[in-house]
Amino acid sequence: MWSYPKMVAHRGGGRLAPENTIAGFACGLAHGFRAVEFDVMLARDGVPVVLHDPYLGRTVAGAGHVFDYDAAELRQMDAGSWFGARFAGERVPLFTEVAAFCQAHGLWMNIEIKPAPGFEAITGAVVAAAAAAALGEVGVAPLLSSFSEPALAAAQDSAPGLARALLFDAVPTDWQARAGRLGAVAIHCNHRRLDGATAAAIKGAGFGLLCYTVNSAARARRLFAMGVDAVCTDRIDLLGPDFA
Ligand code: G3P
Ligand code: MG
Repeated sequence: MWSYPKMVAHRGGGRLAPENTIAGFACGLAHGFRAVEFDVMLARDGVPVVLHDPYLGRTVAGAGHVFDYDAAELRQMDAGSWFGARFAGERVPLFTEVAAFCQAHGLWMNIEIKPAPGFEAITGAVVAAAAAAALGEVGVAPLLSSFSEPALAAAQDSAPGLARALLFDAVPTDWQARAGRLGAVAIHCNHRRLDGATAAAIKGAGFGLLCYTVNSAARARRLFAMGVDAVCTDRIDLLGPDFA
């Protein structure tokens, strides 16, 4: 079952602010959202940082992999200028900074574990432990999710009390066995690849169901009619927190 918000701001501020930055989370909050999704991976020194790409160049100026830099170095890098001059100076946030922001503002967290290739298990273990450590402060339990089954298995070992969701692009036919092995409570999938029968099977088996990344009201309504519990959106201006 799904006990979390129905509308989730993708990467904090969707299309309105630089992804995975404190400015992005503040933007989601300013639009009334009570839930955010963001991506977490490890810096060279094993500290979890909030970034989507495992390399620099798109949202952060520079070159190389995220794991080529310590968190303190990444923490000094500009993650806002790529989006717009007014966001210059936004930094790559540490996971702990984002968790503190969410705690302070009552934002529920869908923490996507985004391991760099080769770092699946360690990323799952470390991010889950960090999320569990933050839980005392955050109050409302987050939901961990990942496309990486080894990362989720390690998260389960590291913080068994935290809920997990298995992420897919298209939901495979053996989704239930795979989710069951990981003790996952929800399936997250690409809305473009979801059909009604699969949605019904997931809901009928008692799992939560979230779709990403839904940017049209008509599509969101159709998904909710199919039984989808929640959608993650980039159009936080169009699909608000009280969308129905
Ligand atoms: O967690 C949902 C969605 O964020 C997964 O894809 O690439 O946007 O992280 P991506
Ligand atoms: Mg994500």
